[in-house]
Amino acid sequence: EALEKGGYEHFMLKEIHEQPRSIANCMRGRIHAEEARINLGGISEYANKFLQAQRIIIVSCGTSWHAGLVGEYLIEEYARIPVEVEYASEFRYRNPIIGKDDIVIAISQSGETADTMAAVELAKKAGATIFGICNVVGSSIPRLSHAGMYTHAGPEIGVASTKAFTAQVTALSLLALYIAKHKGSLPSSRIATLLAELQKTPDLITSCLKSEPLVQLIASEIKDSTNCLFLGRGINFPVALEGALKLKEISYIHAEGYPAAEMKHGPIALIDEQMPVVVIATKDSSYEKIISNIQEVKARKGKIIAIVTEGDTVIRDIADYIIEIPFCEEALTPILATIPLQLLSYHIAVMRGCNVDQPRNLAKSVTVE
Ligand code: G6P
Repeated sequence: EALEKGGYEHFMLKEIHEQPRSIANCMRGRIHAEEARINLGGISEYANKFLQAQRIIIVSCGTSWHAGLVGEYLIEEYARIPVEVEYASEFRYRNPIIGKDDIVIAISQSGETADTMAAVELAKKAGATIFGICNVVGSSIPRLSHAGMYTHAGPEIGVASTKAFTAQVTALSLLALYIAKHKGSLPSSRIATLLAELQKTPDLITSCLKSEPLVQLIASEIKDSTNCLFLGRGINFPVALEGALKLKEISYIHAEGYPAAEMKHGPIALIDEQMPVVVIATKDSSYEKIISNIQEVKARKGKIIAIVTEGDTVIRDIADYIIEIPFCEEALTPILATIPLQLLSYHIAVMRGCNVDQPRNLAKSVTVE
């Protein structure tokens, strides 16, 4: 087993560090940036369904559901098709309205999650086209799907999903750009730029991973907290949810992810000097707004840990800690901003003496209801 961990103390840490490679593998052979072309063999005869689709429904669970939420932003922004993101467990039991022109995207690392499979079976019976985004080759969901793409992140052993998530978001970025290209909803020059930026993400992740010593220091400061709040806006709101889920899964600290603007409708009541608040505050279209949210936390003495764009000097002066990530296209920030959050949960859990790879009560793949 020590050999399988490749010198890392835990599978989770190994998998976090593998992300430059797993993202590169997810993109391999699929991108021709100069021609603004995306090659997705698994869509083939169903490509027209995407171009005609009036609606896309994404079904998934856990971390894969968070990837689906990022996918909603990406597909709506680039492909201009309305997207709904559903917990598979809710979708399957609520007599959902599904039409023959709907596309149901099932996202699953394992391809075996019982609720996601049941949602797929239901949608398939109703005549929808099923598109699977899975990591485990030959698993049940890809076999049930009409079309799909593998994330090629490699085997994920740690129960808390890390590299599978960033690969899912990468796959969704490719899919959104593929539809945009064929629909003509985005100029080719813009698609070419985005693809070229996407190809840089493995290197950018490598530079995100360099924040690990700083993240360890922050982890040691907040490891004894009983609660933690994660805030983000726009495409980084799902990253806040994922950051909170990672922390609660492996460190057993109660954590909540919130869209930053919703804080005033509840969680703000919880903020005091005992409450670490992790904010994704990169330089994007929500930047000014998120600064006001940070100030609201500061006024209530919350401990602010901000994920910022390299070189940010404004938030440096307000936050207790900043973790820098490289500048990138807004659409790609979720992939980068997730990395320090994974490291933060990991190091907090290790410092608390938790079993990081096998957290209590959790399973890697939930194949029963
Ligand atoms: C379990 C795992 C999570 C995962 C979720 C969905 O809860 O512990 O890490 O996100 O199932 O799994 P899937 O294989 O469908 O992505």
